[in-house]
Formats: sequence, structure tokens, C-alpha cells
Amino acid sequence: MCKYSLNTGRYRPNLPLLACIVLLQIVAFSSCRRLELSGGHSSSPATDNAALRQLAKKRGVSGPPDQGRSLPHISDPLPQLGRLLFSSRTLSNTGTTACVTCHHPQLGGGDGLSLPRGVDVVNPDVLGPGRKLKYEHQEGPIIPRNAPTTFNVGMFDSAMFWDGRLESLGKEPLLNGAGPSGIRTPDTRFETLDPEAGPNLLAALSVFPLSSEEEMFGLSSRTEKARNETVREMTVARLRSEDEWIKRFETAFGSADEDKQMISVSRLRLALGEFQRSQVFTSNPWFRFLAGADRAISERAKRGARLFYLPVSQGGASCYACHRGSFFTDERFHVLGVPQIGRGKADGDSANFDHGRYRESRREVDRFAFRTPPLLNVEVTGPYGRTGAYTSLAGIIRHHLNIPLAIESYDGSQLEGSVRVPDQKDYAAEIARALQIRREAGMYVAREFSLSEDQIGDLVEFLRTLTDPCVKDASCLKPWTVVAEEEDPTGALRLLAVKIADNSRIEVAP
Ligand code: HEC
Ligand code: HEC
Repeated sequence: MCKYSLNTGRYRPNLPLLACIVLLQIVAFSSCRRLELSGGHSSSPATDNAALRQLAKKRGVSGPPDQGRSLPHISDPLPQLGRLLFSSRTLSNTGTTACVTCHHPQLGGGDGLSLPRGVDVVNPDVLGPGRKLKYEHQEGPIIPRNAPTTFNVGMFDSAMFWDGRLESLGKEPLLNGAGPSGIRTPDTRFETLDPEAGPNLLAALSVFPLSSEEEMFGLSSRTEKARNETVREMTVARLRSEDEWIKRFETAFGSADEDKQMISVSRLRLALGEFQRSQVFTSNPWFRFLAGADRAISERAKRGARLFYLPVSQGGASCYACHRGSFFTDERFHVLGVPQIGRGKADGDSANFDHGRYRESRREVDRFAFRTPPLLNVEVTGPYGRTGAYTSLAGIIRHHLNIPLAIESYDGSQLEGSVRVPDQKDYAAEIARALQIRREAGMYVAREFSLSEDQIGDLVEFLRTLTDPCVKDASCLKPWTVVAEEEDPTGALRLLAVKIADNSRIEVAP
């Protein structure tokens, strides 16, 4: 009864019916209120809304994380150019992938897969769950990590990628890496400035997928081992050879740069970056609740929020300790031991581990540590964890509670058939060791504790209040996608195989 909507917006003005509806609503409303006053749940008292807001505030959460930031609007010229580039297969040396292949707005800014499939596929126009590799590799998909969402990436101030191999050296808040100390990228050594990085983290990042063999460059080109800089110049040369692209760059930039070039690497990375930075999806029920709308979220979600923001010692779940602030991440690295599926990064004796942050910092405490992911819109950004090992929110939450047990009892049947699930025994031992090393170093390690299934459900319900309704609505997302009617500069823009059947199921055309 409490789910009864006060605003269906569908009734025509039919007075007797209207009166009846109003009456019904009063009844529904008042029974709703009664239920809420008694807690809506026999065993727990109603949430004190003011106290919950106070608690969130104490944890540094008061409103959307885009507040106080300077971010572009999708209708601005640079994001508009970036939108076309992001969708174009011309960016890939093999012509088989676009950024959108693995970061499609209608797939939560990701690809809906545990591990992405980039080059060497049967049909490059297909993305999402229907994308098939040409050769079934014994070890499953070639890309070792889950593709994170590009939604809200303009809110990062410190570390990009699961291992932070691209990071702001000054980590100034609200700047997205635009501070005076500059940015380190995989082109430079750990903690060393890359003078070519561009003005912010997203501009810095956006040219690296081009030279990733598995993502965009192509495996057959592996022997050439082209340098990143060469690959970027190759990409720019392809764009320059199309008059249509020159025109689009002219529309966005106005005139040629100081080297008399309309298209350059720095313009390419800037346009791609601005497009992603325009993907701001932060209008969600939780922030509406914090702004004073008591009824924006359910009683159940409020119970989940309390668990999220209370420490384990006070009956909570301490989630805030790492999923900190309004962007729900501390942008730091933790050992969570999400099951190692797929082929990993060739680390360790078994050669299928992924040492995460250790690969960059070479500090023992960083072995198997990965960056805390933000949780905005997490409802639509699955599968979860850096390997995409979990297909449900309840699954990844349960994993946090007792890591050794979760690895041991991991159920690989939730994955698609082609993903390899190696034996987790060695991995479990390595993770136990990594956690011990962190404990001994006095670092924060989530302690083991238990939650009832009901409480896990409350947490899931809370996480769902972090969804901006726009990300579930194809027409709302349209400004960020390339649509069928649109003219296509090079014939390589079309990646239209994804069809959203409803908000939860994705169908992919053959
Ligand atoms: C074949 C799939 C694939 C393609 C194509 C691809 N990506 Fe990604 N992307 C990934 C994966 C996997 C990661 C995570 C890699 C890691 O952390 O080591 C990632 C990470 C990112 C991130 C970091 C997000 C974060 O939370 O730190 C951004 C931003 C991004 N990609 C943008 C792009 C852009 C721009 C392009 C096109 C130039 C692109 N991607 C092409 C798979 C892909
Ligand atoms: C010790 C720090 C820490 C704490 C405490 C913590 N998390 Fe996490 N969480 C992480 C890290 C790190 C990851 C990514 C792990 C990986 O893939 O290796 C993660 C992943 C997640 C994901 C998956 C997100 C995605 O996009 O893949 C969800 C959902 C999540 N956590 C929710 C929670 C909830 C709910 C709690 C409280 C019960 C919690 N976390 C407590 C650090 C933490």
C-alpha cells in the first residue's frame, strides 16, 4: 500500500473518478503514515530522519559530489565532439572497438560483462553480453579486469584505473587532477609527472586505451610493440584523413592549433575527456532525502543507510570507512580479495594473479590492493569487483563480511560460460597473507563480522537510492549516445546493436 504512487500523472480530468482517487490516496497516505510511524517493520522503530541526516553529515556526506566543481555540459562543443569520437571505431587500430564498446551509457557506462571483450570478435558491432570472441581462448576473455563505469568520472580527484596507475600528484579536492603538481600516467614512472598528460585526469587517461592491445590496438599487431606515442599519432592520422572529422574538430575548436593542425593528440584527449566529464548522474533519491525530502527513500533504505554509516562497533557495517564522502570512495587502495577469475595480469607463481597497486608502488602492503570503487548508480554498473566476479549487489556485499570464507565458497556458476574460474585455494592463501601484512603495518583492514540476510537486503535497498533515474531511461541518456538518425562521419560510428528491452534486461541483436 505504501508503494501507492501519489503522482501517476496518467489520469484525465474525470471529476468523480478524481474524487475517488483523492479519497483513496488519503486512505493510502494515512495508512502509510501509520505504518511508517510504527516503523514499517514490526521489530524496528521508525527512522529518525534528522538523526540520519546528521549521521551522514558527520561522515562528510551532505549533497551531490558535483557541487563546487567545474564540469562541462553535454551540449557544449567539446563534449559533443567527444561523444562522436567515443562512439567511433576509427579510434581503434583494428577498427573493431570504440570506447563505447566497453563504456556504453545504456549499459551503466560499462559493458554489462564481468570481463570485457575488445578486439578479435565475431561481430564488432555487437556489444554487451552478446559480444563473442573469434577464438575461444582456453583461459577465457583476454582482458583481465572489469570495465568500470565512465559515469561521474569527473568527480575523481586522485586515482584512476583499478590500480591508480594514472593519478593526480597533488590530489587537490574538487579539481579532477587539474592542480599545479600535475598528473602521473603509465607513460612515466611512479609518482613522476607526465608533462603531456593534459589538463585533468580524464584528458590524461583517454589516449591510453588506444595503445592497449586487448582493448583497441589489436593482438595481431603485438609483434610490432608500437610505442604509445606512435599509436596516438597513427590514430590522429586516421582521423585527419577524413574531411568529415576535420570539419567536426573545426566546429569544436574554432581554428587550428599553434602547429597549424586541426586534429592533434592533445585535442583528441581533451574532447574525449570532456565528453566523459559531462556524464554527471548524481540526482538521486538519497541526495533528495539529505536535502529534506523525508519520503524520497523507503524505511528499508533508511535502515540500510544507518548500517552503511555506523561503525561495526555500534551495530553498523562500517561501509563509510572506504566508500567515503559524497562520491562513495576514498580513492585509496584496499585488499578485498575479490575472486581471481579470468587470466589475471601474469603476476605471482601461478601467473594468473593480479597484484594491483603493488604493480605500481612496489610496496609490499599494496600487493592485491585495488582502488575503492565509487557507488553512485551501482545498481546498473554490475558485474561487481575488479574481476566482475559477482553479478549481484548482495553477492559483493556478502564478500566484504568474511573475505577468506567468500573466496573459498565462491560460486562461479553466476558467470557466463566463457569466463575461466581457476581454483581459488592458492589465491585464498595469498590474500590471507596480504591482509596479515597490512594488519601488521597498522593499516585499516575491514574486520570480519556478520549481517542477517535482512540487513544485507537493507544495504542493497540503500545502494539503490544512489541511482539517478536518468541512467535507467534510454530517452534521458540520448544526449550522450549516437543515435540511428545521426549522420556518420566515417561509417565507423555505428554501434547500435544494443537494445534495451526494459530497465533490467538487455537484448543484443544477432
Ligand atoms: C575492450 C574494452 C574497453 C575499451 C574499448 C575501452 N575501455 Fe576503458 N576500461 C576498460 C577496462 C577493462 C578498464 C579498467 C582497466 C584497469 O583499471 O586496469 C577501463 C578503464 C577506463 C577508465 C577508468 C575509470 C575509473 O574508474 O578509473 C576510463 C575513464 C576509461 N576506461 C575510458 C575509456 C576511453 C576514453 C576509451 C576509448 C578511447 C576506452 N575506455 C576504451 C575497458 C575498455
Ligand atoms: C576496507 C575498505 C572497504 C570497506 C569497509 C567496504 N568496502 Fe566495498 N569495496 C572496497 C573495495 C576496495 C572494492 C573493490 C574490490 C576489488 O574489486 O578488488 C569494493 C567494492 C564494493 C562494491 C562493488 C562496486 C563495483 O562497482 O564493483 C560494492 C557494491 C561495495 N563495495 C559495497 C560496500 C558495502 C555495502 C560496504 C559495507 C558493508 C563496503 N563496501 C565496505 C572497499 C571497501
